[in-house]
Amino acid sequence: MSDDLIILKGNKAEQYASLIPQVKGLIDGEPDLIANLANTVAALKEQFGWLWVGFYLVKNDELVLGPFQGPIACTRIRKGRGVCGTSWMQAKTLIVSDVEKFPGHIACSSLSKSEIVVPVIRSNEVIAVLDADSETINYFDTTDQHYLEEIVDLINFN
Ligand code: SME
Repeated sequence: MSDDLIILKGNKAEQYASLIPQVKGLIDGEPDLIANLANTVAALKEQFGWLWVGFYLVKNDELVLGPFQGPIACTRIRKGRGVCGTSWMQAKTLIVSDVEKFPGHIACSSLSKSEIVVPVIRSNEVIAVLDADSETINYFDTTDQHYLEEIVDLINFN
């Protein structure tokens, strides 16, 4: 593993294509989950400069804040609450182009304008979610969905 992330400029797909092998390199051979989640969100934050990106982990029927990059965030989210809790309940990726129009959206930062939440599914159960927030309205799209789902699949949660 090299020390510095190589940050590629280009369209979203090109940026993800450059980032994903580097994320693989960061986590391959490292068994510690928290270390791998921390480096994954750091790499995403460095590449894309989003307002906030992080994991929430399912613990005792709640989502509990895990490794993240960005402003402080709410610590616990119940199933069905906010974008994260809804993604968990529905076990599917949610792309929210305008957070103010999402009923029940939990505003951790007033700067957040759009959001994507990707559930991490193992043995048919959601065990975590990856959440990313942008200061730009309508930022996230199916390209982000495709690659972020690929990224969460790289991580061994055992
Ligand atoms: N907006 C999220 C809460 C988490 S923060 O954005 C970091 C939600 O509605 O679930």
